[in-house]
Amino acid sequence: MSEVAPVVDAEYMAEIERARRDLRALIASKNCAPIMLRLAWHDAGTYDAKTKTGGPNGSIRFPQEYSHGANAGIKIAIDLLEPIKQKHPKITYADLYQLAGVVAVEVTGGPTIDFVPGRKDSSVCPEEGRLPDAKQGASHLRDVFYRMGLSDKDIVALSGGHTLGRARPERSGFDGAWTKDPLKFDNSYFVELLKGDSEGLLKLPTDKALVEDNEFRRYVEIYAKDEEAFFRDYAESHKKLSELGFTPP
Ligand code: HEM
Repeated sequence: MSEVAPVVDAEYMAEIERARRDLRALIASKNCAPIMLRLAWHDAGTYDAKTKTGGPNGSIRFPQEYSHGANAGIKIAIDLLEPIKQKHPKITYADLYQLAGVVAVEVTGGPTIDFVPGRKDSSVCPEEGRLPDAKQGASHLRDVFYRMGLSDKDIVALSGGHTLGRARPERSGFDGAWTKDPLKFDNSYFVELLKGDSEGLLKLPTDKALVEDNEFRRYVEIYAKDEEAFFRDYAESHKKLSELGFTPP
């Protein structure tokens, strides 16, 4: 199993563009943007800046990691991407999973996120417990995201990823979507957060922490009011997340 960086030459770039088209088609036909975004985030979100371990390195493809409690259901996304990996074998899993996240945001109406290829695959899985626990609050969110080297602004902007998708009782124990149109990437997650509890829509304890903490709330208010500001910050934070521990070639 290679842990060397792929050679990002013109041919690799052309392969990325071909994979991007295949991802658009897959995501459109299966309506699977939410779980693709969650896969990209869960591969990247294990990063530890101190030890430089975890991060967007494709290690989530191994049972040892995808069987972690926080990854319940994620195997569906891994399996959906395997035929694209087979068709474009040059592309690393690490790049493919991050590209899938970027395409998922784009095809559901979100911002264009700059994608730089060249990530190495790793076969070293991080220990369980690095991803955030939805039952906790602001200080836990800070512990987890600061460990990755991310900021308060990144925490709030990235939490806007919950504009897509839903929770399922058999996976996380939670149930429901955060917004009325879970296949559209917009700022409605923040609009709903400020409305407080509304029937039929989900708010995790970690979502609620964003309005209860004054520093987080500042950003929630901006993003609820100004979708362009959200898209700008989201694109920047998502790029950071997708490049944790990665120095572009
Ligand atoms: C789903 C927790 C941050 C994207 C979920 C679910 C939970 C959760 C419990 C439901 C899983 C299920 O039942 O299938 C958290 C916590 C976070 C966080 C505690 C800490 C801030 C993020 C971030 C992103 C993201 C940063 C992306 C940028 C998603 C998406 C889904 C999801 C798209 C829906 C998946 C689907 O519909 O299959 N998250 N999440 N989350 N999360 Fe997060």
